[in-house]
Order: sequence, then structure tokens, then C-alpha cells
Amino acid sequence: MSRIEPQPGIMEIDLYVGGTSQIEGVSDVVKLSSNENPYGYSDVVKKAFGKAGHGLHRYPPTDHAELRAAIAEVHALDAERIICGVGSDEVLQFIAQAYAGVGDEVIYTEHGFSMYPILAKMVGATGVVVPERERVVDVDAILKACTKKTRIVFIANPGNPTGTMLDPKEVARLAEGLPEGAILVHDGAYTEYVGGADGGAALVEARRNVIMTRTFSKIYGLGGLRIGWGYGPKEIIDVLNRVRQPFNLSTVQLDVAEAAVRDQAWVQKCRDDNTRLRRWLSDALSEIGVETDESYANFILARFADQEEAEACDAYLKAQGLIVRRVGGYGLPDCLRITVGDEPSCRRVAHAVAQFKAGRA
Ligand SMILES: Cc1ncc(COP(=O)(O)O)c(C=O)c1O
Repeated sequence: MSRIEPQPGIMEIDLYVGGTSQIEGVSDVVKLSSNENPYGYSDVVKKAFGKAGHGLHRYPPTDHAELRAAIAEVHALDAERIICGVGSDEVLQFIAQAYAGVGDEVIYTEHGFSMYPILAKMVGATGVVVPERERVVDVDAILKACTKKTRIVFIANPGNPTGTMLDPKEVARLAEGLPEGAILVHDGAYTEYVGGADGGAALVEARRNVIMTRTFSKIYGLGGLRIGWGYGPKEIIDVLNRVRQPFNLSTVQLDVAEAAVRDQAWVQKCRDDNTRLRRWLSDALSEIGVETDESYANFILARFADQEEAEACDAYLKAQGLIVRRVGGYGLPDCLRITVGDEPSCRRVAHAVAQFKAGRA
């Protein structure tokens, strides 16, 4: 009998490690390791959640028509070209599944989001890692790495864990320069934190080789509910819908997401608070010698002298009940990614890092 073997690439996948939320022996814990919204979700969304519990004996709609219509209305997009998934992760997975396989190449950058290499391996494709320039996606380096085998280029903009951003002209230059047959995936998980950004929508409208993804997990405060969406050319969305399970989203997910996207006052409030506190936190850290790049997201990437100092600071913060994210796995061993929490959390972080630095002086 022949051995039962998984598909090529699958056993090379390292399991995704999420941000921890508990510290043994410490009760007053603040989790700043998963870029969650510290304010949670709005009262409007809470109400929708209560109502969504009715009718659970029925299957949900398969076409997500009402949620797509709401997203389209709010963002001035074509509802026919929107696809919804279990988090934007699922939309990214549809893209990988539908467009890459054994013998194909999938490009992502050296500090790119950790799901990209996982997805490449999941479909048996070859992952190609491209260097960044000082923690910023380097369009020229990506274009240089493209070959006839390139099928997908993943970029997060703003990036995670860097928080840096490419301007729309650079993204357009990237899309224009890709070889025929390759798709640019513009991952906008943090787009709402950037005032005035469209998450790549204008580029999607202008080109046939770009798809953008968005999420309800970050500024909408709904990471626990798992909803995301994508917007792309009609023919790509049509392909993705073929690999999507018909009932991938529950009635609760659909109804709550619809209420959330219509509540843009909440988005605005959270963006404003985040912008103010992000500036405050990076200034406070800079004053004590911990530098950050300008972040466009709801976290900052704090740079320490070296890996030893970053790890020692992480351990010190943990002892104070503050959980931040080590990013050695992202090729940034001398950094810590810190989610911008509410004001008391930001003050606690700044105070604790200052104490840590003073203890080493
Ligand atoms: C850049 C980026 N893309 C996508 C995701 C996935 O988000 P979700 O599947 O919750 O929508 C995340 C989550 O952290 C992210 O940081």
C-alpha cells in the first residue's frame, strides 16, 4: 500500500502563532500584541449582534448581497465586484488557491505579513522573499524578482509589522510593471487608520491585475467575529467565488458586519483616537531613545539597540502585565510591535519602557 501523504508544501508550514493574551501570575494584563481595537465595537453593532440571534435555524444567504451592497454604498464601489470571507485571511486564501500552485512563484517582502508564506506553501507554490528598503516595501526589488512564473505579489499597505506605507503612485508603478499573468494583492487590513486612503480601490478600478482586501477585525473591533472582504476585477471575483464555500459566512457575521460598515462615526472616532495616541506614544518612546518609523496603522514598531535589549524589554513589559509582540519571526529581532491601546495603556507602556531603559543606564 502506498503511504498517505499530504500535498507538496503543506508539511513545511509553520503553524501561525497568534498574540498571547495571558501572563501567569499577573492579573491586570493589557494585550497589545494583536492590533485589536482597544475600544471594541460600537453600541450600534452590539444591538445588531443581539438581533442577529433570531432565525439561526435557517441557512444564511450564499451571495452576501446585503453586506456587499452596504460595503459598496459606504465605499462607492461596485457590489458585483466584492467578495466576503471569514476574515480577510480567507479572501487571501481564495486568491492563493485559485491563482497559484506547484511550479508557480508567489512574491512577498522580507517583513511581510506572516500569512503570505503560509498561503504560498499551502498551495504548493514557491515563495519568493524580496528585501525591503529600511522597512518599506521596495517596488524596484519586487519588479526585479518577478519572473514568468510569478502569479501573485502580496503587499500589505500599511505594512504589518512595519506600519510603513507606499504612496499610491508607487503601488501603481508596481501594478504596471508586473509580468502578464501576475496579480497584485493590495492588503489593506489597516487602511481605515489612514485618513483619506482608499485601500487601493482607484487602482483596482483602473487595472485588471489588482485586487484589494479589507477587514472588520481591526478598526471595526470585530476580530472575534471573522469577517473580511475583497474588491477586484469582475473576472477575478467570479473565479474566487468558485472556491468559496456557499455558506462561508453565518447570518450573525453578515448582519453584524453590515451594521458595522454603516456606522462610520465609530470608524472616525477610533481613527482620531488612534492617530492622537500613536503620535503621543512614539514621541514618548523617542524621548527615551527608542525610535520608531512613522506608522500609518494602529501599532508602532519600536526599535531597540539589539535583539538582547528588545527581548529584555519584552520580558520587563510582561512582568508589568503588558503583552506586546516580538517580531523576530518577521526578520526584526531587535524590534517590538506595540499595538496603540487606549490612553491609560499607552501611558503604562511609555512608563514601563522608560523604567526599563533607566534600569539599564
Ligand atoms: C496585514 C494583514 N492582513 C490580513 C490580516 C488578517 O486579518 P483578518 O483575517 O482578521 O481579516 C491581518 C491580521 O492581523 C494583517 O495584519
